Amino acid sequence: MDYQTIIFEKRSNYGIITLNRPDKLNALNFQLFTELDTLIKEIELDENINALILTGSGDKAFAAGADIKELNSSNVRSGKQFSEFGSKVMLRLEQLRIPVIAAINGFALGGGLELALSCHIRFASEKAKMGQPEVNLGIIPGYGATQRLPKIVGKAKALELIISAKTIDAQYAKSIGLVNNVFPNEELLPKTIEFVELVLTKAPLAVSAAVECVNASQNLDLQEGLTYESSRFGDICGTQDFQEGTLAFLEKRNPNFCGK
Ligand code: COA
Repeated sequence: MDYQTIIFEKRSNYGIITLNRPDKLNALNFQLFTELDTLIKEIELDENINALILTGSGDKAFAAGADIKELNSSNVRSGKQFSEFGSKVMLRLEQLRIPVIAAINGFALGGGLELALSCHIRFASEKAKMGQPEVNLGIIPGYGATQRLPKIVGKAKALELIISAKTIDAQYAKSIGLVNNVFPNEELLPKTIEFVELVLTKAPLAVSAAVECVNASQNLDLQEGLTYESSRFGDICGTQDFQEGTLAFLEKRNPNFCGK
């Protein structure tokens, strides 16, 4: 499919999605969410994509939030729908069974940061700026920051960011665990790709199962989570890659994984 607001580059066994409305700082409008939703559905079905990177086009922004021009005309009913649609797309992204990594190359504000929060891992450029400025606009975050941010940085830090609307830099974001690592701007994508390539040397079904289990931990209590993990562990013990990985260790050689 031809996309206007995103670019999808499929490399050997991973994909790069670039949010592509640079003149609007990649603000997330209805068309962008619709295209992203369609693309994620395609990725769900593509067995050759084992990891995904999400970044923004241009040199200023990952995404500067929901499109305020579209948001401006919302009322009680349409506001709820506006929030539900974006949330649904972000949940779909988070629930992909492959690692999803945000490469935050500039502003990640409001919905832009929420999109990064729905990725499994976040790397940021030194010049990235992040925040939840919604209360400046008389609204609250509507794409999951009130739910995901406390789980990532803790309740007090999440509320500090949300109720103050303050913008933080990449180093501070790293210090509170909001981003995994910070790189000079020109190294952000190469370093993100380097990380993805490392992950791609591992057993793909094990990586997927790990993503699923960690995702599940968000919604399960400890006993339920442990039960789920044991079940997925059992599944993985039935794979060829389990045989290969353990045999390779015993034979003191590198494993040759086949994804089965
Ligand atoms: N929605 C719609 N358009 C947006 C946008 C958003 N969230 N963020 C930026 N844009 C547009 C601007 O309107 C401007 O468009 P124009 O050239 O047609 O006027 C263009 O992107 C460039 O933005 P501009 O504000 O001129 O850039 P800047 O460098 O001066 O400021 C920001 C950058 C990020 C500080 C500023 O754009 C901003 O505060 N954006 C809104 C952030 C926000 O509140 N997000 C939460 C939304 S719920």
